[in-house]
Amino acid sequence: MAQQQRGSFSSRLGFIAAAAGSAVGLGNIWKFPYETGLNGGAAFLVIYLFCVFIICMPILVAEITVGRHARQNPHGSYKKIGGGNWGVIGTIGIIVGIMILSFYNVVAGWAFGYFLQTSFGDLLSKGDFASYFGKYTANVTDNLIFSLAFMVATGLIVAGGVQKGIERWTKILMPVLLVIVLGLIVYGLTLPNAREGVSFYLVPDFSEVEAGTFFSALSQAFFSLSLGMGAIITYGSYFNKEDNIVSSAALVTTTDSLIAFLSGLLVFPLVFFQAQEPTEGPGLVFVALPGIFEQMGPMIGPLIGGTFFLLLCFAALTSTISLLEVPVAYVTDEFNVKRKPAVIGIASLIFLLGLPSMLAHGAVDWFTNFATYGGETHNFMTVLITIFSDIGLPFGGFMISIFVAYKWGMKRFADEIEHGHPHFRGRIEEKFVTVMLSFISPLVVGTILIITVLQSFFGIQVF
Ligand code: TRP
Repeated sequence: MAQQQRGSFSSRLGFIAAAAGSAVGLGNIWKFPYETGLNGGAAFLVIYLFCVFIICMPILVAEITVGRHARQNPHGSYKKIGGGNWGVIGTIGIIVGIMILSFYNVVAGWAFGYFLQTSFGDLLSKGDFASYFGKYTANVTDNLIFSLAFMVATGLIVAGGVQKGIERWTKILMPVLLVIVLGLIVYGLTLPNAREGVSFYLVPDFSEVEAGTFFSALSQAFFSLSLGMGAIITYGSYFNKEDNIVSSAALVTTTDSLIAFLSGLLVFPLVFFQAQEPTEGPGLVFVALPGIFEQMGPMIGPLIGGTFFLLLCFAALTSTISLLEVPVAYVTDEFNVKRKPAVIGIASLIFLLGLPSMLAHGAVDWFTNFATYGGETHNFMTVLITIFSDIGLPFGGFMISIFVAYKWGMKRFADEIEHGHPHFRGRIEEKFVTVMLSFISPLVVGTILIITVLQSFFGIQVF
């Protein structure tokens, strides 16, 4: 097995660009603001940052290290290091990733449609952007075409292989996205009522916090950092021995949370300026942003708005690449299939799995009102998000902590990190990572998962 030559990143910057590209995506610009809005604003932000830096960053180090040591896809990595049935944990992660990509690709299709409609269509003259979003997402033809286009683009890049495809694009497009977001923030902050938005986002009110807030913040942290299903194990398997895992992980974490933070700073002033509801849910970005593009007038609006949505598409693309790369690496590693046929087969499968999510926004009633739990009716896409992202990813994070601390062992783990970081042992970061992976992360993640499952699915109120 694994007879084919494996790719690797050309430099440490290449890995950081690819991992940050994987991390920064719809999770930062679409999901983070609406989760923050639904969960009360600033208090959520504080808990989120705690989850990112304290709970998740050590898990990020763990995933990179496992991947670099084993030089395998997630299934192969768990199996090679852990033996026995450990490979199953990697396989579960691969399935989780496939399901996440199935709905992620649909949302990416919306972003692509919004790019076209903003630049070349009449979106900005619609006025009522909330009802436009409702109509847009219920429209089957556009969704079908644009998410297909998105999957094809993802597939073409993944077929190109690790270096040529993944590294190059990310390095160019991420800085441009940062610049446009910064520009829009400055513009938004000058608008009337921006201040209310800023205080909703930055002045915490902890009386709003409930058990569910911790769960949402934790799952969002996993989703945003691309953790818990093996994407980072896979990218770690292309990571060079001479490079420093710990500092790379810190840089990726900082970049990702910075972009998420800025995206909130962009969205909430606009929401309050337009007297919209921060609790809008998954439509938030698609409803809040067109309004200010419209304000910018018929020349500048489509230009700036179109550029924004186009860059959002690119951010999403570097994330879909990392999601597709995982099952492709699995199939090429384990079954000695060539990259191209693997990409074609798997991308087609995932596109088909995405169809119910596409039809869950008004097109087909059965998928739109799919299941009732926690006192609410959820559409098919939300159900996928709950099971695979909200629960699946923290579960994967829990498993890798246990795996590294108690199966592989912190000694061998530290040996691997010492390549590229010779003074790791004895430093504060070694102690931090050790304590977190052995005790705190599994304990916190495990507790939150158990409480949530009891509460939302069995209606048992724990506190
Ligand atoms: N992190 C990406 C985002 O924020 C999404 C993503 C890419 C992802 N790869 C992943 C999420 C792997 C979970 C697991 O948009």
